[in-house]
Amino acid sequence: MINTPTNQLSFSDASCGTGLKNALAMPRAKVISTVSDSGIRGRGGAGFPVSVKWNLCGLAKGDKKFVVCNADEGEPGTFKDRVLLDDFAALVFDGMTIAAYAAGASEGILYLRAEYAYLRDGLEEMLRMRRKEGLLGENILGSKLNFDIQIFMGGGAYVCGEETALIESLEGNRGEPRNRPPFPIDMGYFNQPTVVNNVETLAWVSCIFEKGAAWFKDQGTEGSAGPKLFSVSGDCQKGGVYEFPMGITIAELLTQVGGDDAKCVQIGGASGRLVPSSEFNRRICFEDVATGGSIIVFGQNRKALDIAENFLEFFEEESCGQCTPCRDGNEKLLKGIRMLKDGTCSMQRLLSLKDLAETMQLASRCGLGQSSPNIFLDVINQYDNEFELTSDANSEPECRIGA
Ligand SMILES: Cc1cc2nc3c(=O)[nH]c(=O)nc-3n(C[C@H](O)[C@H](O)[C@H](O)COP(=O)(O)O)c2cc1C
Ligand code: SF4
Repeated sequence: MINTPTNQLSFSDASCGTGLKNALAMPRAKVISTVSDSGIRGRGGAGFPVSVKWNLCGLAKGDKKFVVCNADEGEPGTFKDRVLLDDFAALVFDGMTIAAYAAGASEGILYLRAEYAYLRDGLEEMLRMRRKEGLLGENILGSKLNFDIQIFMGGGAYVCGEETALIESLEGNRGEPRNRPPFPIDMGYFNQPTVVNNVETLAWVSCIFEKGAAWFKDQGTEGSAGPKLFSVSGDCQKGGVYEFPMGITIAELLTQVGGDDAKCVQIGGASGRLVPSSEFNRRICFEDVATGGSIIVFGQNRKALDIAENFLEFFEEESCGQCTPCRDGNEKLLKGIRMLKDGTCSMQRLLSLKDLAETMQLASRCGLGQSSPNIFLDVINQYDNEFELTSDANSEPECRIGA
């Protein structure tokens, strides 16, 4: 059962429209500097500074600018954005409107995960109410801001959460990542300057304009300000959505969720890092182990190779196939893990698979292929006591991309 104590989240005492009203009363430059003072970095995983993104989009040339809220939430083990959209959507829409004011955008799009279709009617109703209340449309709250929001349904693939694939999907194309640069802030939706932010990022922005930049900055660490939502699942007593300050140690988090005797924890979903119990003193923040919010707890009876096999099956399925390192590499890493399970993998093959994994990290076009080898490398480096290698003479030839 998922235990989601939403009344314990900071969002529960934030009020709809207050942060937005405060932001619209400031000049644009002050909105950007307030966001910068808060130190907020994007909550979608990469941790890009929000103020920099908004400022660059504001400076970019374009006929029209867009704000996209990334609600694709496809990372395995992540469900905190769903809770936000269910219980605190007004704060997300306020945040999108503040972003539009700061970046000079006139249109907003909520890109909603296909599996969250059941949320759509409620969200559309909320948008209708906001138009009636002057929180969307022309001259929002008596200001000069004209801005409205539409909802688009996601394409149903994990890679559509990657911001350039998301934009392709919005344009009606296959959701395949673009080469970058140009970045969306310069050439995004229909080649116009576009801010893409995660649901949680936008909800925190509303709180920052209600509670103050210092309220946010005073929590977390030097390089990772503020509180963060975590989706906790797996072998623990109290899975659910939690709010903790950035910089919490893995051990502290596990105590809170009833997972103290864990064998290892996957931080950041399938594309994140597998941290063994010997490293539970590490901090969850951009300076140490970064995460978009997914925390999957593995108990003592879990086998490391099974975990790797499960995630690599996911990546093999979800690779969009555009670039060879990812298309071919995930298949080969999965095969390698199965050979390790069967006891048919040699040292020579393992070393060549390691090379392959490192090449994928460097040569893949987008974050999917750059991060999918993490689980392979973490398992073979940390859990080499869980498999045995066969002699080179009995093994298949070396493994290379394209071979
Ligand atoms: C394969 C892949 C999937 C992603 N999925 C999501 C997602 O579901 N939600 C999200 O906010 N960001 C996702 N991202 C990150 C986005 O590309 C982008 O960095 C993010 O939406 C920016 O928002 P932020 O600056 O507020 O973090 C994904 C990235 C990759 C490489
Ligand atoms: S890394 Fe994978 S998902 Fe990304 S563009 Fe290449 S094939 Fe597609």
